[in-house]
Amino acid sequence: MNNNFPDINILPITAQNINGALSIGGCELNNLVEKFGTPLYVYDEDTIRSICKQFTAEFNKFYQPTKIEYSTKAFSNPVVNKIIDEEGLDIDVVTGGELAVAIASNFPPGRINFHGNNKSEIELQEAIEYGIGTITIDSFHEINLLEKILKKKSKIQKVMIRVSPSIDPHTHLLTTTGILDSKFGFSIETGDAEEAIKRVLKINSLELLGVHFHLGSPIFELDPYVQAIEYVIDFCAKMRDSYGFKLSRFSPGGGFAIGYLSTQLPPNISEYAKVISDSLLESCEKYNFNPPELIVEPGRAIVGRSGVAIYTVGSIKEIPGIRTYVSVDGGMGDNIRPAIYGSEYSVIAIEKINQENNNKVTISGKFCESGDILAKDVLLPDLTSGDLLALPSSGAYCIGMSSNYNMQVRPPVLLVKDGIARLIKRRETYEDLLSTSINID
Ligand SMILES: Cc1ncc(COP(=O)(O)O)c(C=O)c1O
Repeated sequence: MNNNFPDINILPITAQNINGALSIGGCELNNLVEKFGTPLYVYDEDTIRSICKQFTAEFNKFYQPTKIEYSTKAFSNPVVNKIIDEEGLDIDVVTGGELAVAIASNFPPGRINFHGNNKSEIELQEAIEYGIGTITIDSFHEINLLEKILKKKSKIQKVMIRVSPSIDPHTHLLTTTGILDSKFGFSIETGDAEEAIKRVLKINSLELLGVHFHLGSPIFELDPYVQAIEYVIDFCAKMRDSYGFKLSRFSPGGGFAIGYLSTQLPPNISEYAKVISDSLLESCEKYNFNPPELIVEPGRAIVGRSGVAIYTVGSIKEIPGIRTYVSVDGGMGDNIRPAIYGSEYSVIAIEKINQENNNKVTISGKFCESGDILAKDVLLPDLTSGDLLALPSSGAYCIGMSSNYNMQVRPPVLLVKDGIARLIKRRETYEDLLSTSINID
């Protein structure tokens, strides 16, 4: 066994090189492929649990109390929700669908936070009926809906307000959420955030716990958190002095990066925890607040590293002097991130780890779009049809954002631990594709 192979830092923590072949969670990936086929997503349970524990320990080392809230949009699945519950984390959801999955997973409703910039009246009603812990209000429309719903039910609902601090975290424009020109949250700069707080404080059925912001994702820099925390706490102090606003809970969102390339690793969890905790404590001291409860909302950082996507090589097309396209049996249907964000991935030839990576190739998908490229100009060993390729760091926002484009069925998901692979999501079938269509004959 030799664990000094490239990409070890971005693979699940149980990854091993067994005689030149990749194994995860004690399962050799080529054996899993024999049984389950490809494309296939494999999640490592030990990695998810270990990262949950690190988040809880590192944040609570620097700031107490901190609650870690897993953002289920990264990968919403009943078995993963159960692991999250067992590890003592809370969760957030952004649609009635994510909420339904959480409820079906027996996740305690009181530990669920409902986010989203355009929650419908029905979604809000359902959430309140389930006894959801917190609703994070994102618009004036939502304030009106909540007032109307709660009046009928004569209930009091705990809420947070999402503010937008006009701070750029220098990530991809399409994953930047806290700048002025954003659909998310109440802008502090325009005065909307002040107006929202004024209105919510006047509604007796809403108990305002505090404020939340989310800058974007993935955020490799620490400074945007520092700037945003100081700015938002300054705003909170003004709201306290003007309207008697009390800050008992504070959330700087999620956005913590993971390594997609071993040459581009993010700060570790402890560094994020220290910077966020220190700046919150300093700002609270400066503006004379008792330190509120801190909520952080990692999604990608909880499940991203645990997941690996596996594909089989099919056709190989060489264009002399230009590029060699190696096509695999999945692509943008199961991983849209490279196509929409230009995201980069490492690629590993699963059974050729000990071979030299001396061929520059482009890994293309099987979907009918030229933009269906999973990894451009990556170095790999000599490849032939039938070889297996793995894309590490595929646990977040791949299956979650997958589609049936080209009527391709979506891949299955396995959870591996101690040499045992458990199917937690089966491969779709052609019957599944037709199951929502209405017959017209
Ligand atoms: C409000 C909120 N919280 C948390 C997250 C999770 O972000 P990440 O997966 O980057 O940690 C998001 C992502 O869009 C979000 O919008």
